[in-house]
Amino acid sequence: MWHLSLFCIATTITVITITHWLYRWWNPKCNGNLPPGSMGWPLLGETIHFFAPNTSWDTPPFVKERMKRYGSIFKTSLVGRPVIVSTDSDLNQMIFQQEGQLFQSWYPDSFTEVFGRQNVGSLHGYMYKYLKNMVLYLFGPESLKNMLHEVEYAATRNLQSWAAQESVELKDATAHMIFDLTAKKLISYDPEKSSENLRENFVAFIQGLISFPLNIPGTAYHKCLKGRKKAMRMLKNMLEERRANPRKVKSDFFDYVLEELDRGDTILTEAIALDLMFVLLFASFETTSLAITVAVKLLKDNPRTLQQLTEEHDNILRNRVNKDSGLTWKEYKSMSFTFQVINETVRLANIVPGVFRKALKDIKFKDYTIPSGWAVMVCPPAVHLNPNNYKDPLDFNPWRWERMDQKGASKNFMAFGGGMRFCVGTDFTKVQMAVFLHCLVTKYRWQTVKGGDIVRTPGLQFPNGHHVQITEKDKQNQHTISESDMNPAISRN
Ligand code: HEM
Ligand SMILES: *[C@@H]1O[C@H](CO)[C@@H](O)[C@H](O)[C@H]1NC(C)=O
Ligand SMILES: *[C@@H]1O[C@H](CO)[C@@H](O)[C@H](O)[C@H]1NC(C)=O
Repeated sequence: MWHLSLFCIATTITVITITHWLYRWWNPKCNGNLPPGSMGWPLLGETIHFFAPNTSWDTPPFVKERMKRYGSIFKTSLVGRPVIVSTDSDLNQMIFQQEGQLFQSWYPDSFTEVFGRQNVGSLHGYMYKYLKNMVLYLFGPESLKNMLHEVEYAATRNLQSWAAQESVELKDATAHMIFDLTAKKLISYDPEKSSENLRENFVAFIQGLISFPLNIPGTAYHKCLKGRKKAMRMLKNMLEERRANPRKVKSDFFDYVLEELDRGDTILTEAIALDLMFVLLFASFETTSLAITVAVKLLKDNPRTLQQLTEEHDNILRNRVNKDSGLTWKEYKSMSFTFQVINETVRLANIVPGVFRKALKDIKFKDYTIPSGWAVMVCPPAVHLNPNNYKDPLDFNPWRWERMDQKGASKNFMAFGGGMRFCVGTDFTKVQMAVFLHCLVTKYRWQTVKGGDIVRTPGLQFPNGHHVQITEKDKQNQHTISESDMNPAISRN
């Protein structure tokens, strides 16, 4: 009897606790009005829906369906966290502008695990500013001016070698090109002279990055963590080696870091420097190679754009006084149509499907309250593909940027983020893309051989790659065609 009643009491308490917990899961506490939306399954939330692959260029169906049902701001739960998703331009603006006041950069634990606890994205205040200045120094305009020739040389040499092959997988090939360039700039890494392949560890890494964070053998996420570990070990060894054999002329990031560390009064630590190195290597080659691959695909699908782009770059060559000189900064700055093509490419590509923040206090926006401590996800694709912001949003139309007023452009364009945390690699990306396109369209034509279709999980991928055959343009032939185009009489002969 005694036992039975004890059992009954225990069961009742358990049931009440679970019911209460479930009630709280579905009805989170809030001093105000939470945005509408569903918290999904206990613990799992709506994570599985969020990561579901889709092959469309459009806003991910997960977001699109909820926008239709709930409006531009809604709540959900992802990887164990309550999240407010914002597709609202005004709220996005506020989130970017209030960095450090109302919101703070925050990424899911799985990201922090992968990028290191001390990566730039997770740092705030003084340390953050210090790192940011260091990166701006490395990838800022002055530095880029000096890099222009290197970038042109790398593009020329790579295109030459690709044209000698049956076909190349463009995503991988451009990633290779940009990785080598960045690694050389940052740590004077020379793949030919190294016994281990640094890049390989990053490749394993990428597939797992924007995937479900389950760390057991066999999952993409597990491979990703392993890749990070190996890459970090290599970077650490290289730094040690440099410390043991300092160089006379200090020229790369390692030299800079070692000098800082030796100063003694610095706030920089070796762990922070290595995390930063890792983030920069990753951020530079993965994002930019995707953007280039998407651009090449879109150009092939849009011959009129390709034609105007080619004219712009042929003109640069035609107007050059010293025919032997490479690209100049002035020529680079004159590529106005190219910059429209680049904006339009990254608008459609939506390489970063979500930018994460954390609410530092209860925040009122319109009728809603975002509770303190909740995660907030700004969703760039929803802004870039909204027909109110961009007419016929799925069309690749670089000319639309001619008519874009500056205010609309900054408010509705967030491919590189916004506010204080705006991407520090923007200019670097633009140089890489513009110079690569310059070399490509002036000298080569290309044909898709295989693949080229995309999938979003929700990070952008080319599941079957994008295999192209690149051939050198026949200069003679090219000349006759353009002449006959201008003068119909010739072609009738
Ligand atoms: C197409 C190419 C690229 C895209 C679409 C892109 C996108 C972004 C976005 C959306 C952010 C903001 C993240 C946030 O607010 O939390 C960001 C930040 C950042 N990006 Fe990029 N990025 C690109 C290229 C690069 C390159 C080439 C580098 C390296 C030089 C780079 C380094 C960084 C760093 C270090 C941050 C963190 C800045 C901070 O927290 O203040 N990115 N990027
Ligand atoms: C992608 O999402 C759309 C809805 O936006 C859906 O109709 C389609 O079936 C999905 N495709 C795939 C391959 O999942
Ligand atoms: C591309 O977008 C940026 C960011 O909004 C804007 O400042 C720039 O003027 C745009 N470029 C062109 C060529 O429209």
